[in-house]
Amino acid sequence: MYRSRLDKNLDKHTLDYVSSISDDSEIAIYDIVGSQAHSIMLYENKILNRTEVKKILIALEKLKKEKFTTASSAEDIHELIETMVIKKTGLEIGGKMHTARSRNDQVALDLRMKIRDDINTICGCILDMVQTLVLLAEKHTTTAMPLYTHLQQAQIGTFSHFLISYADALLRDFERFYDTFERVNHSPLGAGPVGGTSLPINRNSTAKMLGFFDVVENSIDATSNRDVVAEYVGHVAILMTNLSRIAEDLVIWSTSEFSFVELSDQFSSPSSVMPQKKNPDILELTRGKTARVIGNLVAILSNLKGLASGYGRDLQEIKPSVFLSSRTAISALVVLNSMFATLKVNKQKMNKIADSGYLASLDIAEALVKEGLPFRTAHKIVGKLVQIAHESGISLSELTASEVASSVGAKEFDSKKLGKIIQSINAESSLKNRSSLGSAGIAEQKRLVVKRKSKIRQYQNNVAKRNTMISSALQKLSTKVQVLSK
Ligand code: ARG
Repeated sequence: MYRSRLDKNLDKHTLDYVSSISDDSEIAIYDIVGSQAHSIMLYENKILNRTEVKKILIALEKLKKEKFTTASSAEDIHELIETMVIKKTGLEIGGKMHTARSRNDQVALDLRMKIRDDINTICGCILDMVQTLVLLAEKHTTTAMPLYTHLQQAQIGTFSHFLISYADALLRDFERFYDTFERVNHSPLGAGPVGGTSLPINRNSTAKMLGFFDVVENSIDATSNRDVVAEYVGHVAILMTNLSRIAEDLVIWSTSEFSFVELSDQFSSPSSVMPQKKNPDILELTRGKTARVIGNLVAILSNLKGLASGYGRDLQEIKPSVFLSSRTAISALVVLNSMFATLKVNKQKMNKIADSGYLASLDIAEALVKEGLPFRTAHKIVGKLVQIAHESGISLSELTASEVASSVGAKEFDSKKLGKIIQSINAESSLKNRSSLGSAGIAEQKRLVVKRKSKIRQYQNNVAKRNTMISSALQKLSTKVQVLSK
């Protein structure tokens, strides 16, 4: 339709090569709504008359039901929708819809509308998952488990502490998306191909009708920049990286060797040959899909880094990376949320392991510090105790009085007292005495849960307000469309 100065049509293979129609189904609805706002603005500024706006709006409204799967010679959804409007209203009327805009500001608009919706959806899904994690944490504030560094047993901890660490990472993801919405929610519409228009349009009015905070002011910036898109996909990549790490913890904990948790059958896969198998495929796919999303971010940044200012068709290739990233993030959050909600926690096994080995070493050393020893001396004494116990394959509490005595010089500390200290420390006492801010201690766990619960409520309200802001703007627009369609 646009080939005014070009004599020949694209052959089928070339059309397939340049077309973005198959990806564009994700933005069709935004293109229609954006076109309605644009047409109303043209009418309000006397560029379209009452009959023209009426016919165009009715045609656009009908297209909302269209699936846009039919093969066409259009190169993208913008061309296709305009062609269909012209078909329904005639060139005399439909041919005026594209006045004072370009596909360059149109696609930038559609992408921003799509991303702001995806941000709101992702924000909601993150809060749902955080809620599940915090409710599970609330049930496990006294469930002792080993904490690891280098995947080696480190300190006695609580299961809730792990869960809240996940919740906190996800809350930061939430905050990143929430902040980015502020930058995404600006309208590029009316920027034209790159330098604006001589026609008397009102960019602020379309921005308002579509629920944007403001316009992207500079028309070059509005049409050719995709930095907020990269920012958004960057956040998706970070979110997925967090989910992938959580998935890896669950993979480890659900092995027969650990068996700290058991995934519900609903979220496990069998083996085609080994009848005993219960595989954590969903968790593995979370890791695998994360790799793809990181690839999407790299693809977008690579696309942008060498582009001259002003629209270049390269930008079309960014869209599938965005759509795939959104779909992946939303489904990962939904699936992992359900997985946590149905997770079987093997409290006995966790408690047993927390009370075994040498996990209480630091607690013993700190008890010696409380008795006045320099930490370095305490570290040496307990290190020696562990060495002796390890050689005999026993726990610290199983050391004999003479073994304890051999690890501490008579001048350093009274070995009988040391023996008593060793006997008095176990997972329960360790978690009772751990009091530092944000630590695994039980009192801290209870405090952390309460604090997160109120944060979730506050964030849920914020998301609801944003959703209402957009839906009430679009509702007003739809009322205008109805009135002008009469
Ligand atoms: N299909 C294009 C895209 O997705 C739309 C903009 C095309 N603009 C142009 N001047 N060729 O980016």
